[in-house]
Amino acid sequence: MCGIVGYVGPQGAGDGGAGVEVVLEGLRRLEYRGYDSAGIAVVTPDGVQTRKKAGKLANLVEELQADPLPAVATAIGHTRWATHGGPTDANAHPHVGIGGRVAVIHNGIVENFATLRAELAAAGVEFTSETDTEVVAHLLARACEDTPDLAAAMRAVCARLEGAFTLLAVHADAPGTIVGARRNSPLVVGLGDGANYLGSDVAAFIASTRDALELGQDQVVTITPDSVVVTGFDGSPAQGRRFHVDWDAAAAEKGGFPSFMAKEIHDQPQAIADTLLGRVDAGGRLQLDEMKISEAELRTVDKIVVIACGTAAYAGQVAKYAVEHWCRIPVEVELAHEFRYRDPVVSERTLVVAISQSGETMDTIMAVRHAREQGAKVLAICNTNGSTIPRESDAVLYTHAGPEIAVASTKAFLAQITACYLLGLFLAQLRGNKFSDEVAQVLEQLHEIPGQVRQVLDGLEQVREIARYMADTRSVLFLGRHVGYPVAMEGALKLKELAYIHAEGFAAGELKHGPIALVEPGQPVFVVVPSPRGRDSLHSKVVSNIQEVRARGARTLVIAEQGDTAVEPYADVVIRVPQTSTLLSPLLAVVPLQVFACELATAKGLDVDQPRNLAKSVTVE
Ligand code: F6R
Repeated sequence: MCGIVGYVGPQGAGDGGAGVEVVLEGLRRLEYRGYDSAGIAVVTPDGVQTRKKAGKLANLVEELQADPLPAVATAIGHTRWATHGGPTDANAHPHVGIGGRVAVIHNGIVENFATLRAELAAAGVEFTSETDTEVVAHLLARACEDTPDLAAAMRAVCARLEGAFTLLAVHADAPGTIVGARRNSPLVVGLGDGANYLGSDVAAFIASTRDALELGQDQVVTITPDSVVVTGFDGSPAQGRRFHVDWDAAAAEKGGFPSFMAKEIHDQPQAIADTLLGRVDAGGRLQLDEMKISEAELRTVDKIVVIACGTAAYAGQVAKYAVEHWCRIPVEVELAHEFRYRDPVVSERTLVVAISQSGETMDTIMAVRHAREQGAKVLAICNTNGSTIPRESDAVLYTHAGPEIAVASTKAFLAQITACYLLGLFLAQLRGNKFSDEVAQVLEQLHEIPGQVRQVLDGLEQVREIARYMADTRSVLFLGRHVGYPVAMEGALKLKELAYIHAEGFAAGELKHGPIALVEPGQPVFVVVPSPRGRDSLHSKVVSNIQEVRARGARTLVIAEQGDTAVEPYADVVIRVPQTSTLLSPLLAVVPLQVFACELATAKGLDVDQPRNLAKSVTVE
């Protein structure tokens, strides 16, 4: 949530630097993190100057055309997802501290801001916004009165803040310097040649450099064009971890597609293939990326708890069916924010699997910490190298979906499910149970999935047409059993978030226990049908559910395997997917639902990449 960019380039007399352009370019790439308002600050010898505007980045660009900022080589920029204070010009960042020489941008929530604000107000400070960030700007301006060292002033301020925050600050007396600080909120350094960068994530500077430095918890960083100095909040020297970003700027572009979402849906075969790539060694054994859990410990695991939020939690629900079947280990799936605030029963023999695309979801981070405090080992499944969740976990299995820019998750979801399968197969193999002989066969089927997803994508014109035709629909229901249930939930979530349509996903067996009362003539109901070649009773139960809703006038849109003729008499529309095993079928069945939601939202004229009220990574609880 909130995108943060900082740039210090070559300093020169008369300057003429590209600070504003570089920061705007970074903000364009970070806008998916929040798009309620945006702003920029530059450092001039006379003080800091800002421009900021409510609404999307385009509004700020217009403002800058009408009232340009000076061309200097030090700038910071922010794109906001509102927490304290509505999305107005006044609440947009940067915020300038008393005296007009310090500007601050911030991601996170300062939890003790009310106390700090009262203290400043009592000292006569006047506020121009409702934000917690302005409090930090004033505190920093005051701290700078005691020291000419901006980093020392920042450390003094951080010592007073509670909550989660990433902060960037510039000072008029330090024209070639930006100071950043982070606690529980992301910040990475981009290492350029004669220029350095700061960003909420590497997308901020990917057009300029792929060399980056990951910062640790409670650290302050000072960048100049040719130096990067990191310390702890206590001033002790610290080192970041250098890494190279394995995707380039082109991967973060739309590549000719009308939206990032359309591109990311199209990229799904590659995301799955890349996540599978190089995982299995010559002996057929799975390789994890970083493993601080011994095989002996993994053999003693007696329970798995998956913690995640939203779409990532649905990937976890798919994992439950597969891992329990393959490994005979009980698997619980829990929303991270619920896990954190109850008293979960976990022990040293529990393996907690934290699934997160961004690696920065605060609810999941807090749950990871809670699990580790209880003695559990944590394995992260994550798409973002260097992010907090993998860094704080005992083991990591990275998904290789590449950057996911559209706010609603698509390719990361398929990559997460793929990684969960790999983990399940790995554990089955390691524990040598009766299923371990079948691992090779499942891996073979898994390697066919990218081609099969491509086939699904190539055959979805009918789904697109239906979506356009249904643009005025007010409610859609989704049903599924077994692994089809999380697919139904994900289909409903995509439609809610992209098209703002009431949508609900149900376990098909639950229908008669209440939800069937919602069905009235004309109600569209998607049904995810399992393979008839799998457990026969499962397939026939779902076919009965289709009949039940049809008998009450529902319009049934059925996702069924090629060759499944049993659904035809009861389906208004049959959407075909290739044959695979039931456990792997979510990777195919969810694709038409993603395309349906994307197309319907587009037909309604909505912005599918940046749906209202949302942000890509939810870095506050
Ligand atoms: C929905 C969506 C969200 C995320 C959730 C977790 O389309 O994208 O539900 O899945 O916020 O985010 P990560 O995976 O970054 O932890």
